[in-house]
Amino acid sequence: MNMEVPRVSLPMVYCFLISAIFFQFVIAGSSDDLKVGFYSNDPTNSKTYCPSAETTIREAIKEALGNDYGPAASLIRWHFHDCFVRGCDASVLLNKSADIPNPENAAFFNMRGYYLIEAAKTAVENICPEVVSCADILAFAARDAFYLLTGKSDSDLYSVSAGRRDGNISLLTEATTFLPRPDFGFSQLTNSFAAKGFSTDEMITLSGAHSVGQSHCSSFTSRLYPYNPDQIDPSYAQALQILCPQNAAIDGVVPQDNVTPDTLDAQYYTNVLNNEVLFFSDWALRNTSDLVAKVTIQSYTTPLIGNALWKSKFIAAMQKLGRLDVLTGTQGQIRKTCGANN
Ligand code: HEM
Ligand SMILES: *[C@@H]1O[C@H](CO)[C@@H](O)[C@H](O)[C@H]1NC(C)=O
Ligand SMILES: *[C@@H]1O[C@H](CO)[C@@H](O)[C@H](O)[C@H]1NC(C)=O
Repeated sequence: MNMEVPRVSLPMVYCFLISAIFFQFVIAGSSDDLKVGFYSNDPTNSKTYCPSAETTIREAIKEALGNDYGPAASLIRWHFHDCFVRGCDASVLLNKSADIPNPENAAFFNMRGYYLIEAAKTAVENICPEVVSCADILAFAARDAFYLLTGKSDSDLYSVSAGRRDGNISLLTEATTFLPRPDFGFSQLTNSFAAKGFSTDEMITLSGAHSVGQSHCSSFTSRLYPYNPDQIDPSYAQALQILCPQNAAIDGVVPQDNVTPDTLDAQYYTNVLNNEVLFFSDWALRNTSDLVAKVTIQSYTTPLIGNALWKSKFIAAMQKLGRLDVLTGTQGQIRKTCGANN
């Protein structure tokens, strides 16, 4: 009796292999291609060699900040917004132009601090023209902001893999699809992060960035008039109402973290438990029966160990964020200015 064995022809195997290789190296960059010390690894390659890139970027950002590190918070947010939309390819920085009629940054996300990225780019272009990508600048800058805002301890200068290349497409529709909104509830938040490969634990860990920086009143005034005392601590709500009057002509700004506004730390999680956070999405992290959420928040609010635990998990989550859907090798471009395609 003849057994029917499914046959795979040799041409089919080749076809499969070739398309696998094609997809690996031509369509989607591999985050395996990112390397720590990328810009100092190969002195013989003038297209990637710029050994002082990281220190130059950090110094340029510090100089542009001056005495007030506050706006550095925006750098952590830029990297997040970049990576969640079309991968970490600096698409978030592309301005409106003839080839980019409706860019990601056309939406009113209240981004600030673009000048810090431009200062860093100008500084590296001066020493190594067209070598360092804007996507890598965003990743380094987010790390530098962490270092500056947690208190400039050497151990907070975590390593950042590099070798990202810049994309040439930026679409507002993708930003509104993939970025979480401040009116999101718990399951919308977990879905938004799961779509990018992040667990509930990682989502909560990254949200700790709301322990620093600011928000415009318009991002949360819908929670103030009227306010729900089950969701916002009454005296906190009253303080916010003074800073953000109803129907004000000017959109004011308030600190994200009312307790330690200038320090990036685990205070955010205590604020969450105390109903002293700005967004419905922040409060939503406690308004769930999800056990992971409860355990994670509890671990970060544990006296003595909570802050160190959060910092180490935040660093790991930021390193993972920086590997999302990157362009590497000969893909994409190294933009001459971050706001426009070459
Ligand atoms: C979980 C879902 C998130 C939502 C709904 C959200 C939403 C927002 C909103 C509405 C603002 C205020 C913008 C303004 O009005 O000025 C803000 C600020 C900020 N966000 Fe988030 N965010 C989320 C997650 C994250 C993550 C994952 C990070 C980074 C890891 C981050 C970092 C920041 C920072 C640092 C600021 C302050 C920016 C500044 O001071 O300029 N956020 N976010
Ligand atoms: C982006 O780059 C690709 C590949 O080089 C090219 O085919 C495409 O036309 C470019 N798109 C824009 C908007 O510049
Ligand atoms: C892009 O827009 C930002 C923010 O308005 C601005 O600072 C920057 O100079 C612009 N860059 C280009 C190349 O147009």
